[in-house]
Amino acid sequence: MAIHLSPSILAADTAALGNAVAAAAAGGADSLHIDVMDGHYVANYAFSPKTVQDLRSVTHLPLHAHLEVANPDAVLYLFAAAHMIIVQEDTTPDLGATLATIRRLGCMAGVAVNRNRPVEPLLPWLEQVDLLLVMAVEPGFGGQPFDDRMLDKVRRLHAHRAARSGSHAIGLDGGISLATISRATAAGADFFAVGSAAFAGDPAIAVHTLRAAALAVSA
Ligand code: DX5
Ligand code: ZN
Repeated sequence: MAIHLSPSILAADTAALGNAVAAAAAGGADSLHIDVMDGHYVANYAFSPKTVQDLRSVTHLPLHAHLEVANPDAVLYLFAAAHMIIVQEDTTPDLGATLATIRRLGCMAGVAVNRNRPVEPLLPWLEQVDLLLVMAVEPGFGGQPFDDRMLDKVRRLHAHRAARSGSHAIGLDGGISLATISRATAAGADFFAVGSAAFAGDPAIAVHTLRAAALAVSA
């Protein structure tokens, strides 16, 4: 699978968001990752449906809404302008129904799994998802250290996908940097949401350099 880099605008200067997004695109970003936080599921607040709508008019990059909210089923329809909606698997009582709703909205579907949750219960759903996103930090804040233990989850997912010729992406969110991305690709990840490491300096250079590091050791 090709490497997919999705800069997470949580780490961008939101007073100059258009410039940050243009720089990420110039560096070769494959999409933009937009964290939505409600102060309940996580103890923080972040973007809204309006962010997705506004960004659609300033970039051609696909927009991924990552819903870190307590009740995503109630608000999915608000994110129909996104190309992909990613839900936390522990926030929905009926993952199959949630995925079906996302598809009906015309969006691609992603599922994120927290560090303390197993991936095995999600395996039956993989044919219906475009992205299985392994959280390598606790959701809520950027800039946290990468949890190396999540590489085992990635290896298991990679083996499972290879055995079934699956087509979904295997992603990591949290703590991805030049120091960690090669370990992640070596373990079999091919999709990365990258916050601080993408926006700390010039996003155009950062995204380009991250891709080079990822491609140096891809599984
Ligand atoms: C955390 C978010 C991440 C965050 C990653 O709740 O889901 O997307 O932006 O930030 P970094 O890359 O700084 O860990
Ligand atoms: Zn995220």
